Amino acid sequence: MAMEADHKLKLLLLCLLMTITIPALKANIGEFDEEWERRQEAAEKSAKAAYKPEPLHITTHLNRQVHKTLEGLNDTRRSLRHHYDGPCQVTNPIDACWRCDPNWDQDRQKLADCALGFGHETTGGKGGRIYTVTDPSDDNVLEPEEGTLRWAVIQPEPLWIIFKDDMNIELKEELLVTSNKTIDARGCNVHIQGGAQITLQYVQNIIICNLHVRDTVSKEGGMVRDSTGHFGLRTASDGDGISLFGASNVWIDHVSASNCADGLIDVVAGSTAITISNSHFTDHNDVMLFGSSDSYYKDELMQITLAFNHFGQGLIQRMPRCRFGFFHVLNNDYTHWIMYAIGGSSHPTILSQGNRYIAPENAAAKEICNRVNTAKSEWSKWSWTSEGDLFLNGATFTESGSPIRNIPQEDMITAKPGTFVTTLTMFAGPLKCDEGKPC
Ligand SMILES: *[C@@H]1O[C@H](CO)[C@@H](O)[C@H](O)[C@H]1NC(C)=O
Ligand SMILES: *[C@@H]1O[C@H](CO)[C@@H](O)[C@H](O)[C@H]1NC(C)=O
Repeated sequence: MAMEADHKLKLLLLCLLMTITIPALKANIGEFDEEWERRQEAAEKSAKAAYKPEPLHITTHLNRQVHKTLEGLNDTRRSLRHHYDGPCQVTNPIDACWRCDPNWDQDRQKLADCALGFGHETTGGKGGRIYTVTDPSDDNVLEPEEGTLRWAVIQPEPLWIIFKDDMNIELKEELLVTSNKTIDARGCNVHIQGGAQITLQYVQNIIICNLHVRDTVSKEGGMVRDSTGHFGLRTASDGDGISLFGASNVWIDHVSASNCADGLIDVVAGSTAITISNSHFTDHNDVMLFGSSDSYYKDELMQITLAFNHFGQGLIQRMPRCRFGFFHVLNNDYTHWIMYAIGGSSHPTILSQGNRYIAPENAAAKEICNRVNTAKSEWSKWSWTSEGDLFLNGATFTESGSPIRNIPQEDMITAKPGTFVTTLTMFAGPLKCDEGKPC
């Protein structure tokens, strides 16, 4: 009951705050012209429409799907044996939707039905043409060559983008992806590496899957085309792996990311309805930033699901670091951190369920949570709940605020506990998929 009232209040606050002037965030946009104004307005509208006033319906539903998949694991295998002989194991409900279909490459857009969590309405380029990237170069950011990834992502219509071969793509400037796109690297080994970041700015409905993103660097900017009908000056970019800026309905699945100049995945500026799943993160300091400023109240509507990911070797902090919104951290494997795993400021709501947290040896870094620059009298009111988490090597999770619980239904579903995490995250990171065989 308390939670329901809390959410009504939050929604009311949200509406009030929308009418107050909000300080601008760094947008890398040289000239904020009419086109960008139009996109920003459309993005705000889409974000409000994608916001879920009752987030616990989404979290409870995802918990239930996890139970169903694990209970059906043996049954599924048995029934799939009628169709093929290969060993294919699906160990979580997102993968269960498509991975063991040997004809996945004939029906790539099936993936569009598989998102769960806050990003579950994401369909990416579903219904659009399949477009095959044949050229790994990125030599003309103003007039991209046909066949390149940059050409594909600026097309106005929905597009399902795939790759002809394995390739390394060094982006010369930010890759500005337009709405209704899927970047689907299944079947190929595609690395976005050593160049600029992928940017989803004021756009909606994007799926990114099976990509390797690493070693991105800051770029000084310049004239970059952001759609077939528009280009403009970009100022310097930070060198995130993937940057979400005012983006809604985004699903990132089976990606690996490491060693970028800024965050691996940063989500800011009123982005919402996002799922990051089945991904593998390594070798990085500031892993994920969800909300970049304590004065950017529009991030109250940020809702993100982080599920079935592996936070691995060489990670230091921010997995993620959150502000304002609602964050569902479900069944992830945290095997490495140096400073802390989950942090935040500006009263974020954090529901940590069924994760495995393995603390580092350092006795001063056993605590998973870090409330940044905030007095206890303040953060003790923030709802940070741990349920079913598995704590190893002395890891601790300091809870606060009113506890968040799944919506009670007949089956009284609770999160699948952290003891199942090695199974649930067994295939985190990009998959090796061959045509005609299950992935
Ligand atoms: C699958 O079946 C085996 C043998 O009957 C059992 O031990 C195991 O727990 C089952 N797995 C799941 C996830 O139910
Ligand atoms: C994306 O697709 C949706 C649904 O077909 C459509 O309503 C929307 O206008 C598209 N967005 C853009 C920016 O083209």
